[in-house]
Amino acid sequence: MLIRNLEEIKLANKSFHIQTFGCQMNEHDSETLAGMLEEMGYEENNHKKEADVAIINTCSVRENADKRFFGTLGQLKKVKEARPDVVVAVCGCMMQQQHIIDTLKSKYPWVDLVFGTHNLHEFPKLLTNVLNERSKVVDIWEEGGDIVEGLPAKRMYPFKAFVNIMYGCNNFCTYCIVPYTRGRERSRQPEEILSEVRELVKTGVKEITLLGQNVNSYGIGADFSMDFADLIYRLNEIEGLERIRFMTSHPKDLSDKLIQAYGDCKKLCNYIHLPVQSGSTQILNRMNRKYTKEDYLKLIEKLKVVSPDIAITTDIIVGFPGETDEDFEETMDLVQKVRYDSAFTFLYSIRKGTPAESFQDQVPEAVKHERFNRLVDVMNEITAEKNKAYEGKIVSILVEGPSKTDPKTLTGRTESGKIVNFNGSLEQVGKIIEVRITEGKTFSLTGELI
Ligand code: SAH
Ligand code: SF4
Ligand code: F3S
Repeated sequence: MLIRNLEEIKLANKSFHIQTFGCQMNEHDSETLAGMLEEMGYEENNHKKEADVAIINTCSVRENADKRFFGTLGQLKKVKEARPDVVVAVCGCMMQQQHIIDTLKSKYPWVDLVFGTHNLHEFPKLLTNVLNERSKVVDIWEEGGDIVEGLPAKRMYPFKAFVNIMYGCNNFCTYCIVPYTRGRERSRQPEEILSEVRELVKTGVKEITLLGQNVNSYGIGADFSMDFADLIYRLNEIEGLERIRFMTSHPKDLSDKLIQAYGDCKKLCNYIHLPVQSGSTQILNRMNRKYTKEDYLKLIEKLKVVSPDIAITTDIIVGFPGETDEDFEETMDLVQKVRYDSAFTFLYSIRKGTPAESFQDQVPEAVKHERFNRLVDVMNEITAEKNKAYEGKIVSILVEGPSKTDPKTLTGRTESGKIVNFNGSLEQVGKIIEVRITEGKTFSLTGELI
């Protein structure tokens, strides 16, 4: 059970900084940590070096994420030396791996608090222990317990929000560390989700993104009978909510019922992120993805029947063990056939403890890079062409705020998730407005008010 006697542990004039790596799941976990810290009386500090509590929320999905973490942690050593009272805390997916804990213990003994993905809700208690005892605390749970409801969150935007619908993953794709870092699938009760969304809408949220490693498995094995498509239909009825998104759906479980929801549910954004990973059925098989290239293409066809303009994005791994030139050409062929709006492309990265770690036929780095560059070039061409096709069209966007690169322009997002830069006024932030697209560039669109 959650132990939080926050009144007792309120602290004044103290600040925190959280650095987050990884996916939306981690971003949302950091929002929860920030919410708990604020309840304890801490304020957010944008300067890591000045904060009283410095947290790094880690990702383990590829090797470069691990490397970046240790680089960032190294920087905090100087801070800790200069101000020994600072609490340095590390959490997230990397902490669920014993070899990382061993490294932290031997090489980074000055880290004060180490916790994992399954005991995030215990953070206030753990932090209090560190502060009271002035001693190091390492607490990692092997598996997730019951889902803890009612945790606070300091959300990044007032008008759009992440909502967890399930935790964990049972798929065990052979390259992937996530099932080991996030544990088995657990679905939140539908009523908890619906009431959270209703509350969010009351505070001005217009767009929600439902989060889960594999949202299509929502409700499987649960003590209620509602599947993911049912949940979308129910959310679609909530007055005041305008957009529904979700991340991520696995092709093997993408049901006809969910595809139909694109036709029936007005609020469901005309967009899907459907990770394919490879276009070669043989590689998909070795990845344990449980679908063929043809199955995947069939799904795309079905989606386009229900929703002809649907924007589709994907994840692709290049250089999985055993990937031959022919296998890679299958991926290139699939990309041309689907014509994705955009794709996240990754070089295969060996993950300790996953089945693919011991596959003998690893692809040489030079071959991986050559394939990767070819794929990225083709994808950029397709993305640019897709964006060009927006020129002259009127689209609705949710205005997010000033552009990061040019504070004089505003930025919004289309239903398809594309960034639109336009000249507007700050009162439009948080509103859904219509703009005409004047230019489609490779990575963004330019629009004008109509
Ligand atoms: N649950 C989601 C996302 C998992 S991680 C899903 O199943 O789609 C996000 C992406 O990282 C994956 O889709 C995959 O493309 C990539 N990825 C995961 N493990 C990887 C590895 N070992 N090497 C390279 N890319 C990897
Ligand atoms: Fe990893 Fe596969 Fe689960 Fe996605 S579905 S989190 S890629 S094991
Ligand atoms: Fe990374 Fe964990 Fe997300 S490994 S991608 S932060 S689930």
